[in-house]
Amino acid sequence: MTPPISPIQPISRPPLEGKTVVLCVTGSIAAYKAADVASKLVQLGAIVEVIMTKSAAQFVGKSTFEALTHRPVTTGLWEAQSELSIDHVALALRADCVLIAPATANTIAKLALGITDDPITATYLATEAPVIIAPAMDADMFASPSTQRNVTTLQNDGVVIAGPSEGRLASGLVGKGRLVETAELVGLVRQAIGKHGDYAGRNVIVSAGGTKQPIDPVRYISNRSTGKMGYAIAEAARDRGANVTLVTAANLPNPAGVKVVKTSTVEAMRDAIVPASSDADLLIMAAAISDFTPANVADHKIKKQGEGSMTIDLDKVEDFMPLSQGKNLVKVAFAAETNDLESNAQAKAAPKGAAFVVANNVSEPGSGFGTDTNKVTFVDADGNTDPQPLMDKLDVGHAILDRALPLLTKR
Ligand SMILES: Cc1cc2nc3c(=O)[nH]c(=O)nc-3n(C[C@H](O)[C@H](O)[C@H](O)COP(=O)(O)O)c2cc1C
Repeated sequence: MTPPISPIQPISRPPLEGKTVVLCVTGSIAAYKAADVASKLVQLGAIVEVIMTKSAAQFVGKSTFEALTHRPVTTGLWEAQSELSIDHVALALRADCVLIAPATANTIAKLALGITDDPITATYLATEAPVIIAPAMDADMFASPSTQRNVTTLQNDGVVIAGPSEGRLASGLVGKGRLVETAELVGLVRQAIGKHGDYAGRNVIVSAGGTKQPIDPVRYISNRSTGKMGYAIAEAARDRGANVTLVTAANLPNPAGVKVVKTSTVEAMRDAIVPASSDADLLIMAAAISDFTPANVADHKIKKQGEGSMTIDLDKVEDFMPLSQGKNLVKVAFAAETNDLESNAQAKAAPKGAAFVVANNVSEPGSGFGTDTNKVTFVDADGNTDPQPLMDKLDVGHAILDRALPLLTKR
């Protein structure tokens, strides 16, 4: 019998719901990648208005974008039926963010000079929305003095330049000229749109992943944490305007617009978090920190010898959360439990100095390690509990931020 398909938990707060993103596509070979960007933005709730240059339309048909966005696509200022032929700055005024991806050397040069001979350049000049430009071109074109000069001009004008990244180019050469990945572009759009959110200017530290304590140079002791919960909190905080530092022992792609500090052991995580806490507003410890660590770490690979078993002595790890302190710091702890969820979580709150503990029963379906959803209960040191429904991890992140916000010092 086929197993039932488990329903997808919808994100109750699509990060770009109701926001208008004007996606400007220019005549680079990477234009086809903009279709993926359009699709992902739509999936996150955005109204995506696509403008293409005539050259871009040589690479990808308008219909691709029209089908993905359910909106008409403009390629010229004088096009009949285009909103821009009646009001050439209409999209500039409606935009919450303008993303020019891929951006050719030609369009970058025109933008730097203030030339407006097509709908993209006109929109750029007229908009007050944040602008992100993602160059994509041959490495020598990008490195040329004129392109470099133009990119610097645009940066000085307040534009965010995304990439380009290094890698294989369409020419077959390897160099710096590739369009940055879709996830990075979408993350930057989310950050730009949320810049003035309720966490604007707040410093938030989030830890993620399971620490790895070495046994010898090739082995370690760890746990099942994947880091998904911590990354989702970091993204939620970024989307609300926070300056986010993500201290991670996980191996997930870096979220855009977040300062990522890669660590592995408890000691490395402590050394990254404790000093940074002094000027943070909020510390959310979603990482699964090892409770035990090998008492002795061999400096060579331990060989399998003879008969019988092998014993590894473990020491208890000192919890560094109480050491993380700052004048304005609010701390949130996590408790992954398999039994006595609320009493175990309550017992953790006071010793850690946590305003509240996010308790989750990792043995419940849809909850805990590796899943995209989580079902948590907020518990404080006095034993007050606030159970939350099963939610997408991004929504759990928002619920934690909602609860922490009134506790932060007023500014
Ligand atoms: C096959 C092909 C690929 C091209 N790829 C790029 C590119 O990746 N980046 C770029 O800056 N220009 C590229 N060009 C050149 C631009 O298409 C050309 O400069 C054009 O005038 C750009 O117009 P636009 O900026 O209005 O889109 C390419 C041209 C061709 C024919």
